[in-house]
Amino acid sequence: MAKHPNGTPVPAERGPSPVAVTDSRNRQLRDFRISVTDRCNFRCVYCMPKQIFGRDFEFMERADLLTFEEITRLARIAVAHGVEKIRLTGGEPLLRKGLEELVRMLAALRTPDGREVDIALTTNGSALAVKAQSLKDAGLKRVTVSLDSLDDETFKAVNDVDFPVAKVLAGIEAAHEVGLGPIKIDMVVKRGQNDQDIVPMAAHFKGSPYILRFIEFMDVGSTNGWKMEEVVPSAEVISAINAELPLVEVAANYHGETSARWRYRDGGGEIGVISSVTQSFCHSCTRVRVSTEGKLFTCLFATDGHDLRALLRGGCSDDELSTVMAGIWRERTDRYSELRTATTHEIRAGKKKIEMSYIGG
Ligand code: GTP
Ligand code: 5AD
Ligand code: SF4
Ligand code: SF4
Repeated sequence: MAKHPNGTPVPAERGPSPVAVTDSRNRQLRDFRISVTDRCNFRCVYCMPKQIFGRDFEFMERADLLTFEEITRLARIAVAHGVEKIRLTGGEPLLRKGLEELVRMLAALRTPDGREVDIALTTNGSALAVKAQSLKDAGLKRVTVSLDSLDDETFKAVNDVDFPVAKVLAGIEAAHEVGLGPIKIDMVVKRGQNDQDIVPMAAHFKGSPYILRFIEFMDVGSTNGWKMEEVVPSAEVISAINAELPLVEVAANYHGETSARWRYRDGGGEIGVISSVTQSFCHSCTRVRVSTEGKLFTCLFATDGHDLRALLRGGCSDDELSTVMAGIWRERTDRYSELRTATTHEIRAGKKKIEMSYIGG
């Protein structure tokens, strides 16, 4: 396996797949992201604001969720169509009971040419200290942990449930110790909320085994009150860090990578910026998403999904499911971030976009 400048192994570069189904804009299906719960123990202001996701909010009933067998069946079909990476998301995926069993089932999948699938998890880190070892044993390859500040007051203002930074850092360390790397740390930057922490976060993780990534605050969903003024463009993030800790840009690890990579000139490792607002990456978007109750979405900003659960529970054969999934991908035209303009906001105002907590990052 190739090495990251700080010594951490990184997955080999991913070339085009000979088996992957291709959409109308010539993008191959390569990533399968499955939301395993719509619940979360945090109430991040940019994702699950308390005013909406309060005590009265109705989350899904257990019977509505896809079972592990159903998820694995869909994943197996997706892998046959070119998927090589499966990401478990939420809500907070570690809240789903017995998640290790699902990881075990997914880890047994093989690509058409017999390779293992990359199985990753996006988490807020709150349960990692407890779960890292069992997830690793089940076959999870790596985790991405969300962390928006190192300052308790700021972090608590973002997660809105009084959760301390130290517990997340302990979770990250536990994941590192059991080998769930390369670990990425994702910071959503919101102007006026945590932009003062850009350079301190960079300085803290410089020289560590972790890859810190700065994410532009996105207009995903319709409850987070997104405003363009609150987006800190990645160019600004890079220039602020570069002024104190000099950087140089490096090439992407693979076609379709969400983040642009930069490394410290002095060899202190790398950082990334995910610029879905100022520099969209729809042209290389290879991701399909399945919601907790089995709807398939071909874009993070979609308003409608395809009900795969109805097919799964209606006695559809694997061949039929496979034809449906490939057909949906072939017809895919999505490029929301590329088209994001004032007009698209107006057009969409009447129709609700799906929430990040519903479909996962
Ligand atoms: P790696 O496999 O480690 O390269 O991860 P990744 O970058 O593919 O996925 P990850 O879940 O770590 O994505 C990080 C963040 O990028 C998410 O939380 C989102 O904020 C954003 N993101 C990921 N995928 C998309 C996408 O398809 N569209 C947009 N607009 N943003 C995305
Ligand atoms: N903008 C950007 N990223 C978001 N996430 C959730 N909501 C948003 C948003 N509005 C991403 C963050 C978080 C992951 C679970 O989802 O990266 O870490
Ligand atoms: Fe939960 Fe992640 Fe959303 Fe925060 S961003 S509320 S941790 S799902
Ligand atoms: Fe893919 Fe939609 Fe994100 Fe564009 S906006 S990168 S098409 S998920």
